[in-house]
Amino acid sequence: MIHPDSIKKFWYRKYADAPATLAKMKNVGSLAAAFNANVDSVVKMSGRTLTQMIARFGLSLCDLQNISVKSIRTPEDILRGIFRCFCLGIAEEWIAEDVEIYRWMKQNLGTDKLQMGAQAGIIANTMAITGIRQVITHVSALPALQADQFLKRDNLLSFDEQGQLKPAHTINRPNEEASVHWIVEFSKNDTVTVEGQTFTCPKSNRFIATYDPMLFNLVIDPHFTAYTGKNPADYVILSGYQALTKQNRGLSLLKKTIPIIRQWKQNRPKTIIHLEIASTQDLSVRRALIRHIMPIVDSVGINERETVDLLEAMKDARLASDCTKNPSAKNLFRALAKIKQKTACPRIQLHMYGLYITLQNRNFPIAPSANRRGMILAAVAAASKAETGRLSEYEDLTAALGQTVCNEGIKGLEEIGLLIGDPGFAASGIGNFEGFSVIAVPTIIVEQPKTLVGMGDTISAFSLIGAR
Ligand code: GLC
Repeated sequence: MIHPDSIKKFWYRKYADAPATLAKMKNVGSLAAAFNANVDSVVKMSGRTLTQMIARFGLSLCDLQNISVKSIRTPEDILRGIFRCFCLGIAEEWIAEDVEIYRWMKQNLGTDKLQMGAQAGIIANTMAITGIRQVITHVSALPALQADQFLKRDNLLSFDEQGQLKPAHTINRPNEEASVHWIVEFSKNDTVTVEGQTFTCPKSNRFIATYDPMLFNLVIDPHFTAYTGKNPADYVILSGYQALTKQNRGLSLLKKTIPIIRQWKQNRPKTIIHLEIASTQDLSVRRALIRHIMPIVDSVGINERETVDLLEAMKDARLASDCTKNPSAKNLFRALAKIKQKTACPRIQLHMYGLYITLQNRNFPIAPSANRRGMILAAVAAASKAETGRLSEYEDLTAALGQTVCNEGIKGLEEIGLLIGDPGFAASGIGNFEGFSVIAVPTIIVEQPKTLVGMGDTISAFSLIGAR
């Protein structure tokens, strides 16, 4: 067993390279981000407010725990979702299909701040800061309110009504309506009381309530597909399937994107396409992602919850339950290996509490050591975002540099080391398992994060595109 101090020293030295890794991102030619960008209305909800709202609706514990489907048909469902995520310290996104719910949220949840939302939007903003030469974002609706959420950078582009490529923040497509999602954030150790019973939130996290017809119908801007089809980017970050449902033509909407993905790859086989799974409630849509999309992309990003979601869709109830009961590095690594084998996706990355793990094919175009550099940069950027609550300037990206990695992460590395039969793994983070390369890094944990939304997106993007 290697002494914990020398393991920490190793990682401390590796982390010191993060600014140099970041500087190399300027050499990336282009990134396309699709398909979802929206406006997030972020509210911090205290346990006290939640307790009061539950009382106002007269909901019993039994009412709150009675969740038949994870979607929103009434305001009570919103409270159910928040209560569930608060008590478990987890992140979920539930969908509302009725505009009345949107109106209710506007009136009753309010807004602490508006910011860029959704995988493509968040990643496009963050990646533009690194100096990548061209970041092209797909946006289904781009009126002024949405354009305002884009950073004012000339390398961050989208399409106006005529299909002209322009800095996204300068565009206004006034006939379109911005989609606003509600992000209800809560803090670790806060408490909620129902029927005299007190529940303590184990981990700061958030519940997302989404009413978004553009996303339900996966509205795709033809200017974006025409442009990126002819000028395929070096990297594509893909997401936006999570609000689809089987009842609402979700499966055919999903399939509509297959030729688009294939075209990117055909026109430029070197393009690396990454899919961020996101919180996808509909089981059939999850299955379709596994069957149709995961095999044709190069890389996939998931968190602990989404790992369980995929296991469920793969009908591995046992492993899903193991991971839910005990989300340890060991269990999640087993899950990741299972998903990797089942889907044959060349690279899968999991970000979990204190640790990121990548499993990739031996011949993946990004070497394990570069991957590790990307993952370290991702951990620095994520901690910086958590600590300062923002990533908007170049300096923000490495604000958390110099902090030591967490013990949970080291412990996780040791568990993986045991599992893959590599006693030195915790002091390298690079190994082999069943013919795949394993890359894992311990992260920096910020105890009281100022924000968490978009964290996974940031991690996935830096890990992959910063892998240089
Ligand atoms: C989902 C939500 C979006 C949020 C994002 C954060 O895409 O729809 O509102 O910003 O997740 O990762």
